[in-house]
Amino acid sequence: MDPIALKAEFPILHQEINGHPLVYLDNAATSQKPRSVIEAVKRYYEWDNANVHRGVHTLGSRATDAYEGAREKVARFLNAASTREIVFTRGTTASLNLVAHGYARQVLKPGDEIVITPMEHHSNLIPWQQAAKATGATLKYIPLQPDGTVSLADVESTVNERTKIVAIAYVSNVLGTVNPIARIAEIAHRNGAVIVVDGAQSTPHLKVDVRALDVDFYAFSGHKMCGPTGIGALYGKAQLFERMEPVEYGGEMIDFVDLYESSWKDLPWKFEGGTPIIAGAVGLGAAIDFLESVGLDEIDRHEKKIAKYAIERLSAIDGITIYGPKEDRAGLVTFNLGDVHPHDVATVLDTEGIAIRAGHHCCQPLMRWLKVSATARASFYLYNTEQDVDRLADALIKTKEYFG
Ligand SMILES: Cc1ncc(COP(=O)(O)O)c(C=O)c1O
Repeated sequence: MDPIALKAEFPILHQEINGHPLVYLDNAATSQKPRSVIEAVKRYYEWDNANVHRGVHTLGSRATDAYEGAREKVARFLNAASTREIVFTRGTTASLNLVAHGYARQVLKPGDEIVITPMEHHSNLIPWQQAAKATGATLKYIPLQPDGTVSLADVESTVNERTKIVAIAYVSNVLGTVNPIARIAEIAHRNGAVIVVDGAQSTPHLKVDVRALDVDFYAFSGHKMCGPTGIGALYGKAQLFERMEPVEYGGEMIDFVDLYESSWKDLPWKFEGGTPIIAGAVGLGAAIDFLESVGLDEIDRHEKKIAKYAIERLSAIDGITIYGPKEDRAGLVTFNLGDVHPHDVATVLDTEGIAIRAGHHCCQPLMRWLKVSATARASFYLYNTEQDVDRLADALIKTKEYFG
């Protein structure tokens, strides 16, 4: 894999910010888009645009083919058993809310338990808080180890026959922890629970096989994996999706409508009320083609190498604290530079043309667990190089000197 050649495919990365060549290290927030994705969306609007599943005219059938073709790509990408198991949504947040509304509220009753972890993004935390409140179920947390991992012994002792849902991120957007999803799925299933996986930070970076992992629901966002904003998907096992009620009613999702009763389309369309995000799906399909042409295993290997180098370089800076596990971690590094506020760190880095994220990263409970109010985070993707890490490390040394 040649990150420099790949970088050439991303027009936005070839600009100066504050007089310096841009180094984009905020990929966990959103990735940049390659030319092929931008072109696919543009071509769709210039040649194929029409509404889907309706028109008998040529553009209508081209748009439908493009939209459903993208669904086939997603199904193959995740190794789902069929396209019936792929629902297009606005992204991870919408996908997780769909499970919390369409599944959790239907099955949960007082005394049932939902199990999550303190490392969850608010998108995989608040929907479960609300589902627990609405149904009388109890929300429980698997405790974290001091290095920000979960132990299987703790999963075993938290999940029991009262557990109906285990919801967990595959990869933490703050700690870089990669959770042992297949093992956790086995524990959930042994106790009669379903497992819901937040795949926002895994899908862009490593090969995901929903059947090998044996997960029940899997949510992800297109914009973090070279695709457009506003599109993502929810994978769900067909037998679970069949039992679920739609959460949005209206056009597109119906079979038959009478004055007082209606029936729904088959899977997956019963969950896709209204005109769908057609151009977004086309862009997501192009993003999958792009990622597959590079190779997910290659991307994973490359990012781990960059993250390892970043940890080495950043650890050598006096006063820096790096959070998360030392080994077996994803391609991001979260840190604090002495007592310099992370927003100040990010602001100084921006003057050097380096984009990182600072804040609570939508993980306020995790910030409390780390005993900080905020952190800085550099997150890598396939176009980042060791030279980018050198620019980051050098700029951090300067920042430290500047703040004394
Ligand atoms: C782990 C994790 N889950 C969920 C989300 C929410 O994704 P989106 O805003 O695309 O819905 C994010 C986004 O940062 C994330 O990192």
